[in-house]
Amino acid sequence: MKYKLAQRMQSIHPSPTLSLTAKAKQLKADGHDVVSFGAGEPDFDTPQNIKDAAIKAINNGVTKYTPVPGTNELKDAIIAKLKRDNHVEYTRDEILVSNGGKHGLFNIAMALLEEGDEVIIPAPYWVSYPEQVRVMGATPVIIPTSDQDDFKINAQQLENAITAKTKFVIINSPSNPTGVAYNKNELQSLAEVCLKKNVLIVSDEIYEHIVYDDFKHVSIASFSPEFKDITLISNGASKCYSMTGWRMGFTAGPQEIIKAMNKLQAQSTSNVCSITQAACVEAFAGPQDAVLQMRAAFQKRRKLIVNGLNNIPGINCKTPQGAFYVFPNVSEVFGKTTKQGKTINSSEDFCFHLLEDHGVAVVHGSAFGAEGYLRMSYATDEATITEGLKRIANAVKQLS
Ligand SMILES: Cc1ncc(COP(=O)(O)O)c(C=O)c1O
Repeated sequence: MKYKLAQRMQSIHPSPTLSLTAKAKQLKADGHDVVSFGAGEPDFDTPQNIKDAAIKAINNGVTKYTPVPGTNELKDAIIAKLKRDNHVEYTRDEILVSNGGKHGLFNIAMALLEEGDEVIIPAPYWVSYPEQVRVMGATPVIIPTSDQDDFKINAQQLENAITAKTKFVIINSPSNPTGVAYNKNELQSLAEVCLKKNVLIVSDEIYEHIVYDDFKHVSIASFSPEFKDITLISNGASKCYSMTGWRMGFTAGPQEIIKAMNKLQAQSTSNVCSITQAACVEAFAGPQDAVLQMRAAFQKRRKLIVNGLNNIPGINCKTPQGAFYVFPNVSEVFGKTTKQGKTINSSEDFCFHLLEDHGVAVVHGSAFGAEGYLRMSYATDEATITEGLKRIANAVKQLS
């Protein structure tokens, strides 16, 4: 039989980060020695107290359907967390628990967007944002940034990008892929533009606890009730609690939008796994020591990788404030030729050269809407980082 896929499938591209990680894994499985900076997930195990809560839930028979938007216990833990960490108050009907932050964001796009709408996305961006917008028939409007402006947009750029068709802007701080985070004043000036222009803000705060030195993450929704009213917070347990495989995310926002998203979820995935929800009550309400320990380990690794990259001639790397990624500028290697006779003309060329000829997996900046850079995740141990840096230095040295 000849299958005819829906037209909308033409607008979705496979995730380049997932496909690259899969390629690196395959090379490893085939016996190749590959050092990977590709993964977008912490290398730590889920903290024991969270795993214990899940085991207890299984043994206590917490194995049935739950309410679609999440159990009251979990919603209350999220509400308490939002008050404790983000200084903003929500009620149960302003919270929806979904199968990961990604699913929450998909629900937002599905509930709000229609053909002709525009969504403003600063680049470099997390790969799923433009894809989710496109699949709804809406148009991503990309505001490019570079390392020169610390990969941040300003109020004027945002205002210039807004049209009558703009539905929302996505702000991801701390950011995947750059690790850059906006401070309170910067967020305030962006949010004021949105308030003035009647544009919603989708604030992806999934890396909120992974911030370094004395950087303080702040939520736009905490600025005032007016700002809360135009903001949808997207967050979850994946990154800060090392729970990527458990699949839990949440959206906090205006009741009417949450209600619409709930309606969609009720007809698609229903509730998040009951056991995951019980574990997440412990993640948000239990001791937070593990979060701090992981953060301290990431901070040491950040120093190692930033210093190591800046010691390689031709690579320039800014020090990011958060997440576990660096986004070094590698444009100086463009135009050079490898020992194997290939010319490096793009970040993708460099990426494949590093993987195929030097056994290092990184992701090309163009996958995130920014040519001239690489994304490297340092959610891996220090020995791996040191070995990877050695290989990259060697690769660059061999270019002519
Ligand atoms: C910026 C950003 N937002 C959201 C997510 C979604 O994470 P999850 O669906 O695991 O909660 C990710 C994961 O890579 C991310 O990097």
